[in-house]
Amino acid sequence: MSHSLNVTVMVDAGTISPDDPEFTAEPQTTTEGHVVAALRELGHRVGVLGVDDCLAEIVGSLTEHPPDIVFNLAEQFRNDRRLDMNVPALLEMMDVRFTGTGPAGLMLCRDKGLCKQLLSLHKIRVPDFLVLEPGQSIRVPKRIQYPVLVKPLYEDASDGIAMASLVKNESELLERARFVHERWDQVAIAEQYIEGRELYVSVLGNDRLTVFPPREIRFGNAGKGGPIIATSRVKWNEQYRQKWNIEYGFAELPEAVFAKVARVCKRVYRLLQLRDYGRIDLRLTPEGRIFILEVNPNPGIAYGEDYAESAEKAGVGYNRLIDRILRLALRRYEPAPIAAHVKTPRTSAAANVAGV
Ligand SMILES: Nc1ncnc2c1ncn2[C@@H]1O[C@H](COP(=O)(O)OP(=O)(O)O)[C@@H](O)[C@H]1O
Ligand SMILES: [Mg+2]
Repeated sequence: MSHSLNVTVMVDAGTISPDDPEFTAEPQTTTEGHVVAALRELGHRVGVLGVDDCLAEIVGSLTEHPPDIVFNLAEQFRNDRRLDMNVPALLEMMDVRFTGTGPAGLMLCRDKGLCKQLLSLHKIRVPDFLVLEPGQSIRVPKRIQYPVLVKPLYEDASDGIAMASLVKNESELLERARFVHERWDQVAIAEQYIEGRELYVSVLGNDRLTVFPPREIRFGNAGKGGPIIATSRVKWNEQYRQKWNIEYGFAELPEAVFAKVARVCKRVYRLLQLRDYGRIDLRLTPEGRIFILEVNPNPGIAYGEDYAESAEKAGVGYNRLIDRILRLALRRYEPAPIAAHVKTPRTSAAANVAGV
């Protein structure tokens, strides 16, 4: 970037180590640390602002030291992921520029049911699903096919997802839904289990979208009793992955398949109002059907994780990636060129198809 900016990196307060509150130690080992280090290497002046439960502190800090832009890595407020959308909402109200998806996109993606309803309205394939509210008698419709995966409606990081989430019949489904209601204190979603390759597709951009080479998780012992879904143990326990021969790598896809995946992911990205960067998780069935599992407006962008690996494979190294995200965000705040005002608004599904 040509000139140095004042960047405030907003992070979940729990990620700030008391020994290194400004993320200056080397090397940094977390997403937050990697982003801060990259921004500094790019020549920016970087401050870190922790988000916990104190609104006054956030407002005070941003008022006292107004940044040129916030790099928003906060994923919750008051330890509640459902409040993640309010962080950018607050920044909008304060007229502070920030990177990444805004409140509307975060809201659409937070609810795993709402997001699937919207996609299916636009004829994008998603697993059949059922939302189970706590405290209500539940009738499971006949159309539901097993196995079914029962998950908390609003979580991330595979919280609440274990092999026991995969159920074979109605009584197991109800039991797991009760577990989600009690342990996670929230609504459960039961989704038809989709068998197939699991791909993680990283997308960058706004008006023009770049789809990076997809990553894939390979369940080496599927069929031999090993895990077949990315449970929280699979995601966070390397020894467990080794034990069950589970690996992350790049997805080898025929060109036509990649083109189809990229086309669908761009539509999903626009429909759910993602901005600057995002990752779409999907399954590709043996018949070549694409089912969208989940859309992440706040994907992990740590060095070495899927998003950064995909970008790197496309020739966008880590610092350049962070720079691109920052520039994409800044460009959104520039006044629109005159021509944009006379363009037909892109509102219909048809316009979305044409736009990709
Ligand atoms: N309908 C489904 N069919 C097959 N696997 C699924 C389905 N839903 C979730 N999974 C598995 O569970 C993992 C986590 O589910 P996801 O909805 O992405 O939760 P999180 O937001 O916690 O990442 C996925 O990566 C996938 O392996
Ligand atoms: Mg996921």
